[in-house]
Amino acid sequence: MISLPPLRFDYSRCLDERFGITESQLHVVRLQLDACRQEMLTTDLSLFASGQNIPQQKVPLDAGFLDLPDRLLDEYRTVRGTSELKLILETAKRLHETVDRVVILGIGGSYMGARAILESCCDPFYNELPKGERGGRPKIYFAGNNVDNDYTQGLLHLLRTTNIAGDPHSKWALVVISKSGGTLETAAALRQFIQEFVNAFGSEQLPELMIPVTGTSGKLADLASAIGCKVRFPVPEGVGGRFSIFSAVGLLPAAIMGVDMIRLVEGASQMNDHFRRQLAQENLVMNFVAVNHLMETLRGCQTRVLSAWSNALESTGLWYDQLLAESLGKQELGALPLTVVNTRDLHSRAQQHQEGRRDKLMNNLIVDHYRHDAIRIGKIGWNEDGLDAYANLALPQVMNAAIQGTNESYTEGFRPSTDLHLPRTDEASLGQFFQMMMLATVLEGRLLGINPYGQPGVEGYKLHMKKFLEQSIQKVAK
Ligand code: PA5
Repeated sequence: MISLPPLRFDYSRCLDERFGITESQLHVVRLQLDACRQEMLTTDLSLFASGQNIPQQKVPLDAGFLDLPDRLLDEYRTVRGTSELKLILETAKRLHETVDRVVILGIGGSYMGARAILESCCDPFYNELPKGERGGRPKIYFAGNNVDNDYTQGLLHLLRTTNIAGDPHSKWALVVISKSGGTLETAAALRQFIQEFVNAFGSEQLPELMIPVTGTSGKLADLASAIGCKVRFPVPEGVGGRFSIFSAVGLLPAAIMGVDMIRLVEGASQMNDHFRRQLAQENLVMNFVAVNHLMETLRGCQTRVLSAWSNALESTGLWYDQLLAESLGKQELGALPLTVVNTRDLHSRAQQHQEGRRDKLMNNLIVDHYRHDAIRIGKIGWNEDGLDAYANLALPQVMNAAIQGTNESYTEGFRPSTDLHLPRTDEASLGQFFQMMMLATVLEGRLLGINPYGQPGVEGYKLHMKKFLEQSIQKVAK
């Protein structure tokens, strides 16, 4: 039984009859959520396992993410040597020993999780640190998440100009992540980075240093076979892109960055355990959904602000933005997610949050303990700035005052807010958080009668884009 410091959700400031909700309203919705939990854990999982007769309204049923962390850990504990987690660790170790930089290509669910893990679990200046300070791990660059000419040129230029001739450690590797294997942004970038790789190192090393993470079939799988890639990782069947952070999609980049990915998966598994067993009124996932849903439907809070009180959590917020937007933004429903980082955005968005439309619920994401020693404001021998009075205060104390002050100001203005506490920005906490949000999103989908899986609306832009691309091809041919 895993026992990691748990997350904590405090919604007490929403229990306010002037602008919030009541315990009895929560009680009613928790009963509905209990039924939805049953549906997820029994009906959905057994339908998913049977692979047959899935009712039309449940297609696609990408329920594979639900018990994925548990399955991975079981396999790691029972057949360690041949387990997927072990293979990921070995591949990461090989890259640590052979390359100094890794370019990770992917978009959407094939990108945002890895970025969130890098920013939340690694040093804020990871890439700038000397190799020894990075524990010998390679620098990480992301590409293939846009068709931005100058960004791509910039990264290619950087790779080219920082290659040290004859130094085997200035080499770089390519990790390309695409479940479908056909996403244009990623596929186009792959061509450009393969060309760059071959120009720099020749084609012989490509099979060793290009690592695809993709479905068992598809264009990327075919290309990987043609190139002869030595190692490749699957995106498991029935795990949707934005639900795939606990597959090689998130875990291979995590291991390459030196993140303790076993801990991440343990965090997720602990959250699963909590979700399955805990009574509704003490269940983090169910309370988060209940409060957010009631505030939206009864109080018009259609915008969910994830207010991250740590720079390290910005990409985690963006990961959640995608999860909520692509999963529930359907049938003209679904709350609007918005990530802010405070105190930074108190100086840009807070005015609107304090006095703008009453359509927002502020979900604070708070870090209880910092990784490093607390740094004091300190004395410098001058007091023209008037800060000597605060000299002995450390930044975590200033942050706490800002959180409390902001919450109090919201309550005074009859604005609702909640606090979700992460014990730390580390693997154990983030593992719990990612799984909590995925469970909450599916649970809310089931409550609303929206299929949280799939993203049919994204096809629209692709179809029209293809039409314009074909027109461009014709123009070039003329
Ligand atoms: O959540 C999703 O499924 C999407 O955001 C996909 O991850 C995204 O479109 C990328 O798809 P693929 O991994 O097939 O390249």
